[in-house]
Amino acid sequence: MLTSGDCQVILRSEGTQVKYWNTNLKNLSPYIPGEQPKNTDQIIKLNTNENPYPPSPSVVSYLSGLNADNIGLYPDPAWTKLRSVIGERYGLNNEQIFCGNGSDEILSLIFRSFLSPEDEILIPYPNYTLYETLAQSYGIGYHYIQSDDDLIISMDSLFQKDSKAVFFSNPNAPTGCYYDLDKILAFCKEYNGLFILDEAYIDFSEKGSGITKSGLQLLKHLDNLIVLRTFSKSFALAGIRAGYAFASPSLIEGMMRMKDSYNLSLLSQEIAYKAFQDYSYMETNAQKIMSNREFLKGELQKRGFHSTDSKSNFLFVSHPKYHAKTLFQRLKGQGILVRYFDQPRLTEYLRITIGHKDQLDTLLSILTDKILVGD
Ligand SMILES: Cc1ncc(COP(=O)(O)O)c(C=O)c1O
Repeated sequence: MLTSGDCQVILRSEGTQVKYWNTNLKNLSPYIPGEQPKNTDQIIKLNTNENPYPPSPSVVSYLSGLNADNIGLYPDPAWTKLRSVIGERYGLNNEQIFCGNGSDEILSLIFRSFLSPEDEILIPYPNYTLYETLAQSYGIGYHYIQSDDDLIISMDSLFQKDSKAVFFSNPNAPTGCYYDLDKILAFCKEYNGLFILDEAYIDFSEKGSGITKSGLQLLKHLDNLIVLRTFSKSFALAGIRAGYAFASPSLIEGMMRMKDSYNLSLLSQEIAYKAFQDYSYMETNAQKIMSNREFLKGELQKRGFHSTDSKSNFLFVSHPKYHAKTLFQRLKGQGILVRYFDQPRLTEYLRITIGHKDQLDTLLSILTDKILVGD
């Protein structure tokens, strides 16, 4: 998607073309992705929650032995191999599993399949900003529900207003906080709409892998739950764009009808399959990231930072003496990219992706020697 800066350029240079835009597009604030610099060799990139470790060796060897034999054929529209390997691990039928071109595509399909312009959705704040962008692009009303001073949302507050769906990330983006499943179950049992439980970061919450802490185990009790997962984070495959979702067969069937026939490329299906087969490799990497997270959290606290209780592959931190924007700019000047959100209630925070140990050591010594000094 374009940045708002890009859009302003288009509006200025091709003003007359805007007349062809539909109302939703005219009113859209485009999603602003984190910066993807070109010269990644010289930069420590801790701004978009990517995985610092390589993907499974079986993915690497598949890519190095690639031949073009099948590339002229369309891919399997039902992703049978990938779906089956996922289903076997979690004890689910193919009819309960959906695969998409990143979980972003699945989010988009949820809007297209289950929401209409007269509906309103709820988004606990703060959250993944794409939910708002998608609501705007499909002309669906949305309402933010505010969290408390510690950025924690009370489930009861989600009953404040009638709604057709709630979009909930767990662990939350951008705070990283994890919400207990019993609270989510209790809410969903009372709630008449759809509950979209976005578990992009679940593999980084203790015992999060598999179903121990995942909303997956709620599926047997609920027909209004969609659990979203991605290959972008714990499987280190953000570049191939693959995500998956679990829900009741009727919700999956709805999205199957709505999706583009060949929504997941042949290469993405094969790579995601290979990575999922090597599940223990993903778990080992996730474990390393969790221990790096706790190391970084402790070291940042020694340097005066406050941190939320993140159970994700990032920390969300603030410093009582330094403005987050100043820290962001100074770190960038030193070749370290982190994420700053110019959004209500978030301007005092930085989101720092958990890199590998060397990257974190460099970050910490730059903070100590060059940034947290002299003010
Ligand atoms: C909460 C959340 N959901 C979904 C996504 C998108 O994942 P994908 O790369 O599978 O589209 C992200 C990406 O950062 C995210 O933070």
